[in-house]
Amino acid sequence: MARNTDKIRGRWGLVTGASSGIGADFCRLLAEEGMHLVLVARREDRLKALADELRTHGVVTRIIALDLARPDAAAELKRRTDEAGLEIDLLVNNAGFGLYGPDLEIPWEREHEMLELDIVAVVDLTKRYARDMVRRGRGWIIQVASVGAYQASPTYAAYSAAKAFVLSYGEALAYELRGTGVSVTVLSPGVTRTEFLEVSGQAPAFYHRLTMMDPRAVTKAGLDAVLRGRPSVIPGLVNKIAAFSLRFMPRRWQAVTAHLTMKPD
Ligand SMILES: NC(=O)c1ccc[n+]([C@@H]2O[C@H](COP(=O)([O-])OP(=O)(O)OC[C@H]3O[C@@H](n4cnc5c(N)ncnc54)[C@H](OP(=O)(O)O)[C@@H]3O)[C@@H](O)[C@H]2O)c1
Repeated sequence: MARNTDKIRGRWGLVTGASSGIGADFCRLLAEEGMHLVLVARREDRLKALADELRTHGVVTRIIALDLARPDAAAELKRRTDEAGLEIDLLVNNAGFGLYGPDLEIPWEREHEMLELDIVAVVDLTKRYARDMVRRGRGWIIQVASVGAYQASPTYAAYSAAKAFVLSYGEALAYELRGTGVSVTVLSPGVTRTEFLEVSGQAPAFYHRLTMMDPRAVTKAGLDAVLRGRPSVIPGLVNKIAAFSLRFMPRRWQAVTAHLTMKPD
């Protein structure tokens, strides 16, 4: 019997933020399904090591070390995959980071970098690769947002707002592209065991330790959803219930609950 993943076997995928966490696990999952891969992030040594590991699945890999927060990065990435003659059929917009703390205490330079990566690069890359996908009548795009996108989150104010952008943009695009053969899914993970908290500058809180998921389960949920044409997915039952219950809460209470769950012990 044909499996859903047969559609991507032997095609090319591109994963941003492939050097660690969810992105690295996306690469492992896609390679196991027979997808050739372009790995993108800044830490080249990590990309090389992962590319070596993935080749054991018999797939072809390319690595591109690039800072995607640079304004010209998406154009450069597209130019390099075009010059290599690669038809990218699956794009995972995963590279991203958060910044923890009172917003006024976060230096603008760092926050600006975050917004460039978490918002601008996502739209820029999506437009460049999705246009080709629509022309070919085939493609899959996964936009990695966060459960934090579903509510205003004090101490992650700009990060959760950036992810709310990704959620709204991705779901709208999924609708716009219906009937084109291109499927867009927003993947909104809850707390996941990666380098995220270390990079954001937060020690794990009780809620984090209670609900933390492995990246493998997160990536499987994302791949399954995009291959089924679902516009949005939240991995994990607890995360699903938490996001759903927000619908019954006034918005200012949502901010209070977000703050309480993020609070260090
Ligand atoms: N872990 C969680 O709890 C969680 C929850 C919800 C959503 N998310 C989202 O999941 C995505 C993946 O994060 P993660 O949890 O896997 O964290 P992670 O382990 O820190 O991985 C982040 C990835 O993004 C890459 N990256 C960061 N800055 C970059 C830049 N300027 N240019 C290119 N690549 C860059 C990093 O590679 P280099 O440093 O080598 O460039 C790394 O590969 C992010 O969008 C994050 O917001 C995570």
